[in-house]
Amino acid sequence: MIKSSILLVEDDLQVAESLKQILSSYFDVEISTSAEQAYQILQDKDFSIILSDLKLPGISGLELLKKIRGIGLTTPFVMITAFGDIPTAVEATKLGATDFLRKGDLDPKELINKLLNLLEDSDFEFVCGSEKTKNLLAISRRVAKTDSTVLILGESGVGKEVLARYIHKVSPRASRPFVAVNMAAIPDTLVEAELFGYEKGAFTGAERRKPGKFEIASGGTLLLDEIGDMPLHLQPKVLRVIQEKKVERIGQSSSAPIKIDVRIISTTNKNIEKMVKDGTFREDLFYRLSVVPLKIPPLRERKEDIPPLVNYFISKLSRKYEVNISIEDKALKKIKEYDWPGNVRELQNVVERAFILSWSGTKYVTITSDAIVTSADEINLQTAGHNQEANDNQNSITPENKRTDFTKAIPEEQQELKSCIQTLSIDNLNIKNMEKIFIIKALERTGGNKSKAAQLLGITVRTLRNKLKELKLEDKNSHLPSSE
Ligand SMILES: Nc1ncnc2c1ncn2[C@@H]1O[C@H](COP(=O)(O)OP(=O)(O)OP(=O)(O)O)[C@@H](O)[C@H]1O
Ligand SMILES: [Mg+2]
Repeated sequence: MIKSSILLVEDDLQVAESLKQILSSYFDVEISTSAEQAYQILQDKDFSIILSDLKLPGISGLELLKKIRGIGLTTPFVMITAFGDIPTAVEATKLGATDFLRKGDLDPKELINKLLNLLEDSDFEFVCGSEKTKNLLAISRRVAKTDSTVLILGESGVGKEVLARYIHKVSPRASRPFVAVNMAAIPDTLVEAELFGYEKGAFTGAERRKPGKFEIASGGTLLLDEIGDMPLHLQPKVLRVIQEKKVERIGQSSSAPIKIDVRIISTTNKNIEKMVKDGTFREDLFYRLSVVPLKIPPLRERKEDIPPLVNYFISKLSRKYEVNISIEDKALKKIKEYDWPGNVRELQNVVERAFILSWSGTKYVTITSDAIVTSADEINLQTAGHNQEANDNQNSITPENKRTDFTKAIPEEQQELKSCIQTLSIDNLNIKNMEKIFIIKALERTGGNKSKAAQLLGITVRTLRNKLKELKLEDKNSHLPSSE
């Protein structure tokens, strides 16, 4: 069995070793005793999960989280906090921590289950129902057997990255790394270092050797995501690396280039052929990257995919929250009739939001058509004269960053809730994090009184108790912070 890998950041070696022992039957655990060391390790190696103590000797777990999210690393990050650190843990979830655990609560079996669940969440499937998509997958499976370059085209949110992962998963390279580099997310000046790596001293700030993504992906697949954003001056260099199958780190003596063996998949939502005509993308690189071009049609042109996708998103939510979710026929009809300009991503967001709006903490939930609020509803609202000023772009669900007014599903009489949602500014919209934040806020506001907090939250005390347990928020000594 190939085990998933965990980077455990813990300065207390005794604690670290005992955690490693607990986890080692399921995971390969590497220990780092400081955040600085962990950051260095993460430059060279990918892990399935990072499990980090909050309090560390040098920079804290929180700062480590900030740093790694800052360089675009999306590895699930679980923060281990000591007693009394709840506000910091909440801060951590806002910064992109996937979850947090209380030190005293580390029951081995639960810990393992939690981590396995996390991995399952980062798992994926390419769901399909239409003939168009089935054919696309059949071609993809044939292509996967070869080493040809693949260029995946399609509008934003159609599933280009999911298809790239699918090709990797069904290819002979599946047990080797899948490495993605998003050209649009890295500043132009850093793309070269990111792709090719560098030697110590290659430029100011290059304090130690760093391998590039071509090297890290060795034996596996390298996804050049959003290639339309690759800086023009870098394109001949990338072409050379692909042609010669050799890479030189920046500052490396040219006598010893590194041999690489990677399958390249690229994606773009731009009109790349037009870019070639306009001279903003090199023709030779375009041909090299697009030996097999695959176009994913927009969701509106393959509506038979909608029901299985909705079922897939619902069953994921059901598993995650251990609730039984069903959807009204009228709601599904509304979903099928809509055009989905933000494609599958928009569909996923709308289904998740519909679930949030419909769930009151009980075991059974039915999603009604009122809870299905799309960007078209927002446009209608705006024409009706409603003020829909966006307060940030983080929550956008369509490529044009149009905001959906999901508050529309809230009854008129609950104006207070409406204005509260409209002013809410939380970066990490993961539902579990939101639940934690809401529960903590309610407990803070009621000085830790569970009956009052449950009343505020609109759930029974028993549900609140279960949730506290499930979300690992239960404080054995009832010392939840009483201030905001
Ligand atoms: N066929 C599918 N089955 C399951 N999930 C899908 C499918 N297609 C897309 N998704 C989901 O939709 C979201 C968007 O997919 P993805 O990131 O692959 O789109 P994209 O085409 O790369 O978008 P962008 O151009 O904005 O980068 C993801 O959350 C993904 O899991
Ligand atoms: Mg993408």
